Amino acid sequence: MARRRIIAGNWKMNKTPSEAVALCEELKDLVKNDDVDVVYCVPAIDIVPVAEAVKGTNVHVGAENFYIEDKGAFTGEISAPMLKDAGVEYIIIGHSERRDIFGENDVLINQKVKKAFAAGLNPILCCGESLALRKADTYKEWIRRQITWDLDGVTADQVKKLVIAYEPIWAIGTGETATADQAEEVCGLIRSLIAELYDQATADEVRIQYGGSMNAGNAAELLSKPNIDGGLIGGASLKPDFGKIVNA
Ligand code: PGA
Repeated sequence: MARRRIIAGNWKMNKTPSEAVALCEELKDLVKNDDVDVVYCVPAIDIVPVAEAVKGTNVHVGAENFYIEDKGAFTGEISAPMLKDAGVEYIIIGHSERRDIFGENDVLINQKVKKAFAAGLNPILCCGESLALRKADTYKEWIRRQITWDLDGVTADQVKKLVIAYEPIWAIGTGETATADQAEEVCGLIRSLIAELYDQATADEVRIQYGGSMNAGNAAELLSKPNIDGGLIGGASLKPDFGKIVNA
């Protein structure tokens, strides 16, 4: 089956609200493409102005983080219903920076996936191995374990709406991209795992992205692979190059 391509920018901790609006303006004409889902995952404080700036365009708004409770005494946190009400449709969960810098583990990530679905948000679930695991040739087992834990209790109907981003940590922000064959190998493996955990129909629908130094020069080759349905883009999502990736 034909899966719709999804190109998402992960702005990380970049852009003040006024800079965010300026970037939306700069990218507006460059990211036009009716055949692709385009998403800007932005810092929490940028969500409202970005949602306003992209109104009437083909761009969807995403968030980078949230907490699993709806409301209450959780100083500094933001909830899924708050994101939803502000116009957010996608939410990045399990990014390696959240796992490594902020100590998020697979138990919390699994709770977040379930909470996001319950709140009507579409998770972009990230997985990926370190350079040490890649060198030790244990990366396949690692990815398998991450996905299996993170999807515990998630239904097939939910997985059909899920986006999974394969992001080898050694390729994030390093300028070192996985080769198209390396990326395809793991994305194919993730799809087989979904078929095993659920069924073939679910595996055929789940969208799988590659992420890690994807740019205007390498996007077309990565996206030509049968199991790569899109990209999660950090650095290059903040530049006009993002439009070239959307239209690669
Ligand atoms: P990068 O980041 O494109 O800057 O490597 C990707 C990501 O962390 O999602």
